[in-house]
Amino acid sequence: MRPIAPILRCHNIEDLRQRAKRKLPAPMFHYIDGGADDEWTLRRNTTAFDHYQLLPRYLTDVSKIDVGTHVLGCDLKLPFFLSPTGMSRLFHHHKELGVARAAARHGTLYTLSTLATTSLEDIAKVSSGPLMFQMYVLKDRGLTRELVQRAKQAGYKALCLTVDTAIAGNRERDRRYGMTMPPRLTLRSIFSFAASFDWGFHFLLDPDFRLANVADRVDALGKGAMALIDYIDSQFDRSLTWDDAAWLVREWGGPFAIKGMSAGDDAKLAVSIGASAAILSNHGGRQLDGVPAPIETLISIRQAVGNQLELIVDGGIRRGTHVLKALALGANACSIGRAYLYGLAAGGEAGVDRALTLLGEEVRRGLALLGCKTIADVRSDHVRKLDARCAVHL
Ligand code: FNR
Repeated sequence: MRPIAPILRCHNIEDLRQRAKRKLPAPMFHYIDGGADDEWTLRRNTTAFDHYQLLPRYLTDVSKIDVGTHVLGCDLKLPFFLSPTGMSRLFHHHKELGVARAAARHGTLYTLSTLATTSLEDIAKVSSGPLMFQMYVLKDRGLTRELVQRAKQAGYKALCLTVDTAIAGNRERDRRYGMTMPPRLTLRSIFSFAASFDWGFHFLLDPDFRLANVADRVDALGKGAMALIDYIDSQFDRSLTWDDAAWLVREWGGPFAIKGMSAGDDAKLAVSIGASAAILSNHGGRQLDGVPAPIETLISIRQAVGNQLELIVDGGIRRGTHVLKALALGANACSIGRAYLYGLAAGGEAGVDRALTLLGEEVRRGLALLGCKTIADVRSDHVRKLDARCAVHL
């Protein structure tokens, strides 16, 4: 995949974010970029990394660097992978297909959302890399069983159950900018749609915004465009409990992650039902505002479960040094959402490629500068926590 010149002029994830903002109609950009309520947790997810310092060790041989790792039964060439994000067709016509191809090219795991605009079978056809399917348990429980079987048949390596969406978060930007699914032109949004020429052209060419994995069973969108939040609220099963999660672990029978974990006691329950990983996450600050950043929950969750669970830090990662801090604090790997979505919106598959290249290079450079050859070399004495005023206590 040859990136176009403007993508090559993006030198970090924030550059991709700025380009995404220029390319997308406002409702779509703010759907990616926004969070719940006052967006305190959204901001905290990234700023919390500033409360940790990296402590390099020098005069070690770093002539050969290997940033590969093994999580969820998969060998990955990067210590981070791609989180599930629904409805990628909203951001670029390459949609989930482009994201999955880019992830495979970088040798890392792509997680496909239940609410994707591409079917899980079509993703499996184009991807030569490892895949995980993300499950939202909807009111139609038969659909959950069906999705498990389909993911097995299509060769998905792992399953993850998202548990932090019993009810949709209060995302005010979506209401302010008129975000609907499928997209709908309103008097307020028409100017921003017109300004996003590329996006608008492909929208007119191919206005198919189907939720490809559930479309046959969930016809809510057949009734016309509706606010996304209302759609989610109408479909999600709020009666979900740990017993259901245990049932799903058994039904799947392979590497299984619970996504949306913040508390050590929940992590212990995840161990008790046979899950293999916990994805420490607050849905990128899009659900309950005021909860801690995933990186802040890592130490206590690691203490609670020891090595019985793989721990993945998911939220706020925009730099390679964020990944290194998470690894030093005890994570097995990290997962990214917006970092690759900004790339997708900025330049389709080439933009995702650019996001993964930039973050991968940052991790490799940071690892060498830290004095480590491999991810396994990164230890707790490579990181130091600062106090609330960002001061060091020696
Ligand atoms: C998400 N996220 C998400 N999570 C999930 O389990 N299923 C989903 O369908 C979605 N959809 C989704 C859409 C968009 C636009 C965003 C930004 C996020 C949450 C996602 O998997 C991940 O937890 C966060 O994105 C991580 O935070 P960062 O990396 O975006 O800061």
